[in-house]
Amino acid sequence: MSTANSSLRIVSESSALPQGARITQMQPALGSVISGYRFDGKPLGDAFRSLLRDLLHNRGVVVFDAGTVTPENFTVFAGFLGEFFHYAGPHTPRAPENPDATTIDSVRDKHLRNHIWHADGGFRSDAPAFTALYAHQLPDLGGGDTMFSNAAWVYENLDPLFAAYLETLNVIQSADATGHITDRYLDPEEAKQARIKMPPFEMPLVRVHPVTGRKWVAVNESYVAYIKGVSRVTSQNLLGILFDMIKSPEATARHAWAQGQLAIWDNRVVQHKGIKDYGGRRVLYRATMTA
Ligand SMILES: [Fe+2]
Repeated sequence: MSTANSSLRIVSESSALPQGARITQMQPALGSVISGYRFDGKPLGDAFRSLLRDLLHNRGVVVFDAGTVTPENFTVFAGFLGEFFHYAGPHTPRAPENPDATTIDSVRDKHLRNHIWHADGGFRSDAPAFTALYAHQLPDLGGGDTMFSNAAWVYENLDPLFAAYLETLNVIQSADATGHITDRYLDPEEAKQARIKMPPFEMPLVRVHPVTGRKWVAVNESYVAYIKGVSRVTSQNLLGILFDMIKSPEATARHAWAQGQLAIWDNRVVQHKGIKDYGGRRVLYRATMTA
């Protein structure tokens, strides 16, 4: 917490903010909001770019108010973070206005599983470091918020002895841990190919952020199958404790979208879920990036 708070103080007072822009905070555990800034399509200055990276690394998620970017140029803006990393499958086609973005469409994709806590691309060992999500069309009657959780905050609030034990463990991650392939690749041959393309892999349960050095609990409900080397019951119970902490009010922030808003997050330590409480159409554009 102290790392995040000291960094927060620095960036809040930064002269690197463009004129008229301001930063407010979402919740103590994570999240910042930048309002009053309008992206003009030109490359970002070094100072503003490093401020944004600092915010993302330390606060996890940054939301920009409606009008900051357009459907066409939000990827140009988000490009300050790194190279685009297109890992998406047949269920997330390219956005019509923007070849660097994919579409998350609740009507076109009948088997969306984004309401389960996950990291984007968490079925790959090289999952993207950052995700940018642009609110293109929201349900008429509201709903469809996104929740975010800071898994570094979760680690820092574990009992130290429990944390030390968790650091000795590895997890098996899999695209089919909870049905990502079974539920979405309905053609048996496509499912077979998807399993070949996305094999299970092993990762430490606790990982270290490459920039901040903060440790984080690297488990999510979608793509972690089990903890290696312990019994099934032990694995399920340990994961249950961690999942409960990850979705606790203290570790999370809930964002209610306005059309045209952009959110960018550090997809390593921040996991997220869409809230499936809406009946209308919800279309978000997404870009994912390497570090
Ligand atoms: Fe997602």
